[in-house]
Amino acid sequence: MRTPYVAGNWKMNLDRRAARDLAVAVRDHAVSGVDVGLFPALVHLDEVTRATAGSHVRVGGQNCSDEQEGAFTGEVSARMLKDIGATVALVGHSERRHVYGESDEFIARKVRRALEDGLEVMLCVGETIEERRDGRTEAVCQAQLTAGLEGLDHAALARVSVAYEPVWAIGTGETASPEQAGAVHSYLRGVLSGAFGDEVGAAMRILYGGSVKPTNAAELMAVPDIDGALVGGASLRPELFLPIIDAAS
Ligand code: PGA
Repeated sequence: MRTPYVAGNWKMNLDRRAARDLAVAVRDHAVSGVDVGLFPALVHLDEVTRATAGSHVRVGGQNCSDEQEGAFTGEVSARMLKDIGATVALVGHSERRHVYGESDEFIARKVRRALEDGLEVMLCVGETIEERRDGRTEAVCQAQLTAGLEGLDHAALARVSVAYEPVWAIGTGETASPEQAGAVHSYLRGVLSGAFGDEVGAAMRILYGGSVKPTNAAELMAVPDIDGALVGGASLRPELFLPIIDAAS
């Protein structure tokens, strides 16, 4: 049985005080049977890990370096994230892939580095609108997923979750229908089973992301292969994010 997982990706938003207030609101919201995660901007991570220390909320970096330490100006390592209380790294978000040009190989190195240095990983995959129109949704997502997880053993895979985020649905207000999302999720679960065995396929959580709101969260998460939500815009407002958490329980 997979525990539902709802995470907020705050992207490059909020100031320190607003980040703290939002973290406290999420911390103080009672939930049962749902894992809750927050991905604040790196400079707010310390504030947010302090505000949520000892609570059910897990906190993570929106990105991390593929290197362990050294002369890599501007980078932040998985070890540094862990040191300030983060437990997870978001890797391969479409904005990293498409705005900053991160390749599958680079993303795979980050996944391995984060896992080796003690973090969990949420690996994002998803197709662009052109790729969907060309009928390449499955091929693109399969390639991103298998490249990102290549060579990991079962112990490492147990610390990975996947977020399927169609690029055309991120920040656009356009959401994949439960049928569209469900079809990709069950396809990806099949890919996981084929690559790593049925046990891994059955255990790994696959979240949906892309314009998730209180009005569509319940119907999306009711789909058997959709195990939760990675929420961008709506995660910045407690009156929107907390009902999405509730919809998962
Ligand atoms: P959105 O973003 O909910 O604003 O579409 C989702 C994401 O990028 O993770």
